[in-house]
Amino acid sequence: MCSCLQDNQKIGIGSGSTIVYAVDRLAERVSAEGLRVQCVPTSFQARQLVTARALPLTDLEQCPRLDLAIDGADEVDRDRVCIKGGGGCLAQEKIVAAAAQRFVVIADTSKRSQRLGDHWKRGVPIEVLPMAYRTVQLAIEGRHGGTAPLRLAKQKAGPVVTDNGNLLLDWLFPDGDHDWKTLSVQLKMIPGVVETGLFVDMAECVIFGGPDGTEELH
Ligand code: A5P
Repeated sequence: MCSCLQDNQKIGIGSGSTIVYAVDRLAERVSAEGLRVQCVPTSFQARQLVTARALPLTDLEQCPRLDLAIDGADEVDRDRVCIKGGGGCLAQEKIVAAAAQRFVVIADTSKRSQRLGDHWKRGVPIEVLPMAYRTVQLAIEGRHGGTAPLRLAKQKAGPVVTDNGNLLLDWLFPDGDHDWKTLSVQLKMIPGVVETGLFVDMAECVIFGGPDGTEELH
Protein backbone atom coordinates (compact mmCIF):
# COMPACT_ATOMS: atom_id res chain seq x y z
CA MET A 1 0.00 0.00 0.00
CA CYS A 2 2.86 2.33 0.84
CA SER A 3 3.84 2.96 -2.78
CA CYS A 4 0.20 3.43 -3.85
CA LEU A 5 -0.56 6.08 -1.29
CA GLN A 6 -0.22 9.74 -2.19
CA ASP A 7 -1.49 13.06 -0.95
CA ASN A 8 -5.02 14.14 -1.79
CA GLN A 9 -6.43 10.74 -2.67
CA LYS A 10 -9.94 9.40 -2.47
CA ILE A 11 -9.67 5.86 -1.17
CA GLY A 12 -12.11 2.95 -1.02
CA ILE A 13 -11.81 1.02 2.21
CA GLY A 14 -12.62 -2.70 2.10
CA SER A 15 -14.05 -4.95 4.77
CA GLY A 16 -12.82 -7.88 6.81
CA SER A 17 -10.00 -8.44 9.25
CA THR A 18 -6.97 -7.79 7.01
CA ILE A 19 -8.09 -4.30 6.02
CA VAL A 20 -7.79 -3.23 9.66
CA TYR A 21 -3.98 -3.37 9.35
CA ALA A 22 -4.04 -1.25 6.20
CA VAL A 23 -6.32 1.36 7.77
CA ASP A 24 -4.10 1.50 10.86
CA ARG A 25 -1.11 2.19 8.61
CA LEU A 26 -3.09 4.73 6.60
CA ALA A 27 -4.05 6.56 9.80
CA GLU A 28 -0.41 6.57 10.91
CA ARG A 29 0.72 8.09 7.62
CA VAL A 30 -2.07 10.65 7.59
CA SER A 31 -1.01 11.76 11.02
CA ALA A 32 2.76 11.62 10.46
CA GLU A 33 2.89 13.08 6.95
CA GLY A 34 -0.21 15.26 6.97
CA LEU A 35 -1.61 13.41 3.97
CA ARG A 36 -5.09 14.51 2.96
CA VAL A 37 -7.36 11.58 2.17
CA GLN A 38 -11.06 10.92 1.87
CA CYS A 39 -12.32 7.43 2.61
CA VAL A 40 -15.30 5.61 1.11
CA PRO A 41 -16.23 2.55 3.19
CA THR A 42 -17.58 -0.71 1.76
CA SER A 43 -19.64 -1.78 4.77
CA PHE A 44 -20.97 -0.85 8.17
CA GLN A 45 -17.77 -2.38 9.61
CA ALA A 46 -15.52 -0.34 7.31
CA ARG A 47 -17.37 2.88 8.15
CA GLN A 48 -16.87 2.23 11.85
CA LEU A 49 -13.19 1.49 11.22
CA VAL A 50 -12.70 4.74 9.33
CA THR A 51 -14.44 6.83 11.97
CA ALA A 52 -12.65 5.04 14.82
CA ARG A 53 -9.31 6.06 13.25
CA ALA A 54 -10.61 9.62 12.77
CA LEU A 55 -10.10 9.46 9.01
CA PRO A 56 -12.27 11.68 6.80
CA LEU A 57 -15.35 9.81 5.66
CA THR A 58 -17.21 10.34 2.40
CA ASP A 59 -19.35 8.31 0.00
CA LEU A 60 -19.80 7.59 -3.69
CA GLU A 61 -22.41 10.31 -4.02
CA GLN A 62 -19.80 12.93 -3.07
CA CYS A 63 -16.86 11.08 -4.64
CA PRO A 64 -17.96 8.78 -7.47
CA ARG A 65 -14.41 8.47 -8.78
CA LEU A 66 -11.77 7.07 -6.47
CA ASP A 67 -8.01 7.01 -6.88
CA LEU A 68 -7.50 3.77 -5.06
CA ALA A 69 -9.45 0.98 -3.36
CA ILE A 70 -7.84 -1.43 -0.92
CA ASP A 71 -9.48 -4.64 0.22
CA GLY A 72 -8.87 -8.16 1.46
CA ALA A 73 -9.86 -11.39 -0.26
CA ASP A 74 -10.83 -14.89 0.69
CA GLU A 75 -8.88 -16.51 -2.11
CA VAL A 76 -6.77 -15.29 -5.06
CA ASP A 77 -5.70 -17.42 -8.01
CA ARG A 78 -2.68 -17.07 -10.30
CA ASP A 79 -4.66 -14.72 -12.62
CA ARG A 80 -5.59 -12.45 -9.70
CA VAL A 81 -9.20 -13.62 -9.82
CA CYS A 82 -10.50 -13.21 -6.29
CA ILE A 83 -13.28 -14.75 -4.27
CA LYS A 84 -14.63 -12.14 -1.87
CA GLY A 85 -17.65 -11.84 0.36
CA GLY A 86 -16.80 -14.12 3.26
CA GLY A 87 -17.90 -11.18 5.39
CA GLY A 88 -20.96 -10.60 3.22
CA CYS A 89 -19.97 -7.17 1.87
CA LEU A 90 -19.24 -8.21 -1.71
CA ALA A 91 -21.74 -5.94 -3.46
CA GLN A 92 -20.47 -2.69 -1.94
CA GLU A 93 -16.89 -3.94 -2.25
CA LYS A 94 -17.28 -4.52 -5.96
CA ILE A 95 -18.99 -1.18 -6.54
CA VAL A 96 -16.25 0.68 -4.69
CA ALA A 97 -13.45 -1.30 -6.39
CA ALA A 98 -14.99 -0.59 -9.80
CA ALA A 99 -15.13 3.12 -9.00
CA ALA A 100 -11.40 3.19 -8.29
CA GLN A 101 -8.62 3.77 -10.75
CA ARG A 102 -6.52 1.20 -8.91
CA PHE A 103 -7.76 -1.78 -6.93
CA VAL A 104 -5.18 -3.29 -4.62
CA VAL A 105 -5.84 -6.53 -2.74
CA ILE A 106 -4.03 -7.40 0.47
CA ALA A 107 -4.06 -10.91 1.88
CA ASP A 108 -1.95 -13.31 3.82
CA THR A 109 -0.16 -15.99 1.83
CA SER A 110 -2.65 -18.67 2.88
CA LYS A 111 -5.18 -17.03 0.53
CA ARG A 112 -3.02 -17.70 -2.51
CA SER A 113 -4.20 -20.58 -4.70
CA GLN A 114 -3.28 -22.07 -8.03
CA ARG A 115 -6.96 -22.68 -8.64
CA LEU A 116 -9.98 -21.18 -6.87
CA GLY A 117 -11.42 -23.68 -4.44
CA ASP A 118 -8.02 -24.99 -3.31
CA HIS A 119 -8.07 -22.77 -0.23
CA TRP A 120 -11.53 -21.29 0.21
CA LYS A 121 -13.88 -24.20 0.80
CA ARG A 122 -16.90 -22.00 1.47
CA GLY A 123 -17.67 -21.39 -2.19
CA VAL A 124 -18.51 -18.22 -4.08
CA PRO A 125 -20.73 -15.87 -2.08
CA ILE A 126 -23.71 -14.60 -4.05
CA GLU A 127 -25.94 -11.81 -2.77
CA VAL A 128 -29.60 -12.30 -3.71
CA LEU A 129 -32.86 -10.48 -3.22
CA PRO A 130 -34.73 -12.29 -0.41
CA MET A 131 -37.78 -13.19 -2.51
CA ALA A 132 -35.57 -14.87 -5.12
CA TYR A 133 -33.22 -16.98 -3.04
CA ARG A 134 -34.89 -20.31 -3.91
CA THR A 135 -35.22 -19.57 -7.62
CA VAL A 136 -31.60 -18.42 -7.80
CA GLN A 137 -30.49 -21.49 -5.85
CA LEU A 138 -32.29 -23.80 -8.28
CA ALA A 139 -30.95 -21.92 -11.31
CA ILE A 140 -27.36 -22.11 -10.12
CA GLU A 141 -27.51 -25.76 -9.12
CA GLY A 142 -29.39 -26.77 -12.28
CA ARG A 143 -27.23 -24.87 -14.76
CA HIS A 144 -23.82 -24.93 -13.15
CA GLY A 145 -23.83 -27.87 -10.73
CA GLY A 146 -22.66 -27.98 -7.15
CA THR A 147 -24.84 -26.71 -4.33
CA ALA A 148 -25.71 -23.18 -3.23
CA PRO A 149 -26.88 -23.26 0.38
CA LEU A 150 -28.34 -20.22 2.06
CA ARG A 151 -25.86 -18.69 4.49
CA LEU A 152 -27.25 -19.04 8.00
CA ALA A 153 -26.43 -16.81 10.93
CA LYS A 154 -24.43 -18.26 13.79
CA GLN A 155 -25.85 -16.16 16.57
CA LYS A 156 -29.47 -15.93 15.57
CA ALA A 157 -31.97 -18.33 14.12
CA GLY A 158 -32.30 -17.65 10.42
CA PRO A 159 -30.25 -16.36 7.52
CA VAL A 160 -27.42 -13.85 7.38
CA VAL A 161 -28.82 -10.53 6.15
CA THR A 162 -26.39 -8.25 4.30
CA ASP A 163 -25.94 -4.52 4.93
CA ASN A 164 -28.29 -4.11 1.95
CA GLY A 165 -31.06 -6.25 3.47
CA ASN A 166 -30.39 -9.16 1.11
CA LEU A 167 -29.52 -12.84 1.60
CA LEU A 168 -26.40 -14.80 0.67
CA LEU A 169 -25.93 -18.09 -1.11
CA ASP A 170 -22.51 -19.74 -0.98
CA TRP A 171 -22.04 -21.59 -4.25
CA LEU A 172 -19.98 -24.71 -3.67
CA PHE A 173 -18.96 -25.10 -7.28
CA PRO A 174 -17.90 -28.42 -8.82
CA ASP A 175 -14.20 -29.24 -8.91
CA GLY A 176 -12.27 -28.55 -12.08
CA ASP A 177 -11.20 -25.66 -14.26
CA HIS A 178 -13.72 -22.87 -14.66
CA ASP A 179 -13.95 -19.87 -16.92
CA TRP A 180 -14.59 -17.40 -14.10
CA LYS A 181 -15.21 -14.44 -16.35
CA THR A 182 -17.99 -16.20 -18.28
CA LEU A 183 -19.39 -17.70 -15.09
CA SER A 184 -19.55 -14.38 -13.30
CA VAL A 185 -21.55 -12.91 -16.20
CA GLN A 186 -23.86 -15.94 -16.31
CA LEU A 187 -24.47 -15.81 -12.56
CA LYS A 188 -25.16 -12.08 -12.69
CA MET A 189 -27.80 -12.66 -15.37
CA ILE A 190 -29.96 -14.86 -13.13
CA PRO A 191 -32.90 -12.68 -12.02
CA GLY A 192 -32.59 -11.90 -8.33
CA VAL A 193 -28.79 -11.99 -8.20
CA VAL A 194 -27.54 -8.68 -6.87
CA GLU A 195 -23.82 -9.44 -7.08
CA THR A 196 -21.32 -12.27 -6.95
CA GLY A 197 -18.11 -12.55 -4.99
CA LEU A 198 -16.10 -13.30 -8.14
CA PHE A 199 -13.77 -10.37 -8.81
CA VAL A 200 -12.39 -10.97 -12.30
CA ASP A 201 -9.99 -8.54 -14.03
CA MET A 202 -10.31 -6.08 -11.18
CA ALA A 203 -7.23 -6.35 -8.97
CA GLU A 204 -4.29 -4.46 -10.43
CA CYS A 205 -2.03 -5.87 -7.78
CA VAL A 206 -2.21 -8.36 -4.93
CA ILE A 207 0.07 -7.95 -1.96
CA PHE A 208 0.52 -11.16 0.01
CA GLY A 209 1.89 -10.84 3.50
CA GLY A 210 3.67 -13.81 4.98
CA PRO A 211 5.82 -14.52 7.99
CA ASP A 212 8.90 -13.75 5.85
CA GLY A 213 7.73 -10.42 4.46
CA THR A 214 5.55 -9.39 1.54
CA GLU A 215 5.30 -10.54 -2.03
CA GLU A 216 3.43 -8.83 -4.84
CA LEU A 217 1.54 -10.42 -7.70
CA HIS A 218 1.01 -8.08 -10.64
C1 A5P B 1 -15.88 -9.12 3.13
O1 A5P B 1 -17.13 -9.32 2.57
C2 A5P B 1 -14.87 -9.89 2.38
O2 A5P B 1 -14.88 -9.75 1.00
C3 A5P B 1 -13.48 -9.68 2.91
O3 A5P B 1 -12.82 -8.66 2.25
C4 A5P B 1 -12.76 -10.94 2.74
O4 A5P B 1 -13.60 -11.94 3.27
C5 A5P B 1 -11.41 -10.94 3.43
O5 A5P B 1 -11.61 -10.95 4.80
P1 A5P B 1 -10.44 -11.19 5.82
O6 A5P B 1 -9.44 -10.12 5.60
O7 A5P B 1 -11.10 -11.12 7.16
O8 A5P B 1 -9.89 -12.56 5.53
